Amino acid sequence: MKLVQVSDIHFGGEHKLAVEAAVERIQAERPDLVIAAGDLTKDGKVGEFDAVQAWLDRLPRPHLVTPGNHDTPFAGPREVLTRLVAPWRRYESRFGERMNGEWGDPRATIVTLNSARAFQLRANWSKGAVSRRQVRDVCAGLEQAAPDALKIVVCHHPLIEMIGGPMTAKVHGGTAAAQAFSQAGVDLVLTGHIHAPFVHPYPFADGCTQAVGSGTLSVRERGVPPSFNLIEVDDVDIRITALAFERTRFVTWRTWSVPRRCSLRAKNENGATEVAPLQV
Ligand SMILES: [Fe+2]
Ligand SMILES: [Fe+2]
Repeated sequence: MKLVQVSDIHFGGEHKLAVEAAVERIQAERPDLVIAAGDLTKDGKVGEFDAVQAWLDRLPRPHLVTPGNHDTPFAGPREVLTRLVAPWRRYESRFGERMNGEWGDPRATIVTLNSARAFQLRANWSKGAVSRRQVRDVCAGLEQAAPDALKIVVCHHPLIEMIGGPMTAKVHGGTAAAQAFSQAGVDLVLTGHIHAPFVHPYPFADGCTQAVGSGTLSVRERGVPPSFNLIEVDDVDIRITALAFERTRFVTWRTWSVPRRCSLRAKNENGATEVAPLQV
């Protein structure tokens, strides 16, 4: 199974050469699914949503999309009013509350989660939040998974900070959510927001839940060129490749390989390999 993970395209401030080259590369990869993990637009404007929808329409289907903090109206009095009364109307009119309808492959159960907020009781509304109810809903959605299916959660903000990352997400409820998803046996939590790709395990439960961040396809680079992720899954491993834009095309920037939880379990049952407890 092959997944493509893009995020932070920020139409209105997109990297024009990179988004064009990304279409070409993603078409060539023939993925089973394209996932867009939020910040599709720069300021949540109608024209920016039109542009991202047109771009996604050029990519192989199915698609699964979740919003980011930039995908609600932002600049100007009329925009602020729209943000007040219907912050997600523009997003949902195009992508629905959850664009999960296109994905029904039993090999992976994928649940989306909106970690962005139109308003918060703190100065920086761009940071994330996950409520207990959202965590319960995600865990309930994951219960539908077949025994050896991959379990994936998609949201915009990294639930736990990437150490040394170019910015923070400071997600209210993020640690509790990461802990709950680890205990629920989630394999991958796919996010965007910090504009840099990363992979690291959550330090909870069996230590096999991997946080996977994708970079940006915008000009808002933070020390890393425009990039997106390829995620290839077989019976044994999950391989994540960050592809970075270089002059005219995407090239391999970094690759991570992590064992699948079900393969570790099978090895344990055969007595061949012990899963080392994670040091927290
Ligand atoms: Fe972003
Ligand atoms: Fe963001």
